Parts: sequence; C-alpha cells; structure tokens
Amino acid sequence: MIPWLLVEWFRAHARALPWRDGYDPYKILVSEFMLQQTQVGTVIPYFERWIIRWPDLRSLAAADETEALKLWEGLGYYSRCRNLLKAARAMAEAGYTSPPAPAEELRTFPGIGAYTAGAIASIGYNLPVPAVDGNVERVISRLLGIEEPSGSAALRHRVTEAVSSMLNDRNNRSRKRISPREFNQALMDLGAMVCTPSRGGVPFCGECPWENYCLARKTGREAELPLPRQRAPISRDEAWGVLAVSSIHKGILLHRRPNKGLWAAMWEIPWFLRSGNFWEDFDAWCVSCGLNLSPDRNSPKEVGYTSFSFTTHHVRAQVVTCSVEGTLPDETWRFFSLRELDDVSLPAPSRKFLACFEKIDIL
Ligand code: ADE
Repeated sequence: MIPWLLVEWFRAHARALPWRDGYDPYKILVSEFMLQQTQVGTVIPYFERWIIRWPDLRSLAAADETEALKLWEGLGYYSRCRNLLKAARAMAEAGYTSPPAPAEELRTFPGIGAYTAGAIASIGYNLPVPAVDGNVERVISRLLGIEEPSGSAALRHRVTEAVSSMLNDRNNRSRKRISPREFNQALMDLGAMVCTPSRGGVPFCGECPWENYCLARKTGREAELPLPRQRAPISRDEAWGVLAVSSIHKGILLHRRPNKGLWAAMWEIPWFLRSGNFWEDFDAWCVSCGLNLSPDRNSPKEVGYTSFSFTTHHVRAQVVTCSVEGTLPDETWRFFSLRELDDVSLPAPSRKFLACFEKIDIL
C-alpha cells in the first residue's frame, strides 16, 4: 500500500531528466557516477556533453583520459571520472557492450559501490535492488522514525532493509509487484522535491503521498530527522598559493599529486601552510619536496586572497607570484605555459589561484 502511493505520485510528478529517456544502462552508469556528490541541475549539461562525445560503453572504453578529465572539469571529485573510464574499459575487456545487470557483479568494477550498483541494476535493468543514498536515508528515516545519525552504517543498514522489503511489496488489488525502476527513482525525487533537508527551510509535507503514514510527521519531528551526523571539527588553515614563474621555461610550476587520495594524480599549482614569512615557508617547502630552485628573492608579489575547503579543512590562501629558475627533480614537476594549462584539468584551489593571477599579466 505505502510503496504504491509513492509510485503513483512518481507517475504524476517525475522529473524529466535526460538519462531517463529510454533507460539505457550505459547512460545510467554515466549519470550515477556524475551524480555521486553532485546535484542534478549541475550534472545535466555535463551529462549531455558526455553522451554526445561518448554515446556508448565501447566508445568510452577507447576514450582518452585527459580529454575525459577536461569534459569533467568543474564537476569535482575527479577520481569519479578516472574510475568511470576504468570501469568502462574493464567492462569492455570482459566483452560487455553495456554494463552487466547483477548488482554483485557491478560492484566488482572501479568506483561502483552498493549505491551505484543498486541504481544501475534497478534503474537500468528494473531489478529489485535498493539504491540508498542520503536522499533516500532522509525519506525513510522520517517515514519510519529511525533514530540513527546521518552517515552511520546503522542508518544505511536499516534503510536498505526497509527499501528491500518495500521492493517486494505487492499491490493490494492487482497483486503485482512494484517496478523497482519507478520505486527507487520515486524515492530519489521525493527526497529532492518534497522530503527536503530541514536546513534552510521545512519539507513540503502537504505535498507528500506518505504524509498520513509518516512517523516524523505524526510526531512533529520532520525537521529533526534524520539525526545530524557526528562531525569531526573543521580546522581553519592559512596557506600560500605559489605561482612560480620561469622565464627560461616560459611557464608556471605545477606538481602532480600522488596517485591516491584527494585530487589524486592531478596537476596542481603548489600551495603550502603558512607559518610566517613567505621566504622561510618557501625554503622549508622546497626542502620537504626535494626541490632545488633559485628564486629571485626580490620578486614575490601578492596577487590576492582566495579560500577553499576539503574534507575537514577550510584554507585561506594568499596568492603570490615569484620568479624561479632551476632544474626539477622528477616528472611530477613541470612548467606549464598558460596555453598548456587550458588543456589540463585542475583542482579547484589551482583554478582559484589562476583566477587571481590572470588579473595581472605576467607571461
Ligand atoms: N540522484 C542520484 N541518482 C539519481 C537519479 N537517477 N535520478 C534522480 N536523482 C538522482
């Protein structure tokens, strides 16, 4: 009964989204990678450009990673893009022309966890598998009055169990099972449009097909559930962002980040924590990286301030340019001309540093 009310609501109110046109499992794969951590409205133009460039799994498996990262630029969390390419290549190598259907098999490919596997299996292939993300957790924790904190394994587990049992619910009259494709997307749309987060407003309970069944609504707790996550405190840091310019190499110094972790393997404009005077911090940073540079110590020029955040850090950076010459220790360091930088996807802090830099004309 309760699941059917939601499916009926979905039939009347579903959002028209480009990956819903025909439910091609390849398009569901691409959209779900893009939608991890990113809002629908941001994803749509990226998705449309991607599908024009790589319309099927086979073309994506042959794609050039630099070009893919460029098309991804601005969506953030670039390991998603690399993993999407790796997954497409691995699927093509296994002989698939479309992603496989079983969720357990999907989970063996890079970047595909329980949520993404469930979304591809249910939306792409209409299999009765839950696809539980933060939106679904919010909807179900309110409906059932679940008192576990957001982000906890306990909440994910209880919501997954509840969705699994609803997917096997039968319509009272026709005895038909609900369509997993419709039900899972209905949960997503309800979470996005009606059962919205309570920060910055209240959910639109008067428009909800589950209003009369919702435990949070009955007890006036719709703004309190789901319980907030237990967060690590945010640290506030000061840093230098350094645009080190070489006139011999006609470029700006960039460093390629390690292959694992935040902004993995991306080229970035160097930045390091600020503890005092610029040259003291610069020299200590050069030593820590094994860099042997001869900077022009008259050259540092402050070009502005910017700030950026990642995980539990909020960093305020003073952006400085200086002239440097010297040989670089290995291939993780390189001078790039501004023209070359157009073809490289850069993490957000580097783009912010460049935006300060582009206001002054040096190269
Ligand atoms: N959020 C994540 N996946 C989604 C989908 N397939 N439709 C709507 N919102 C989503």
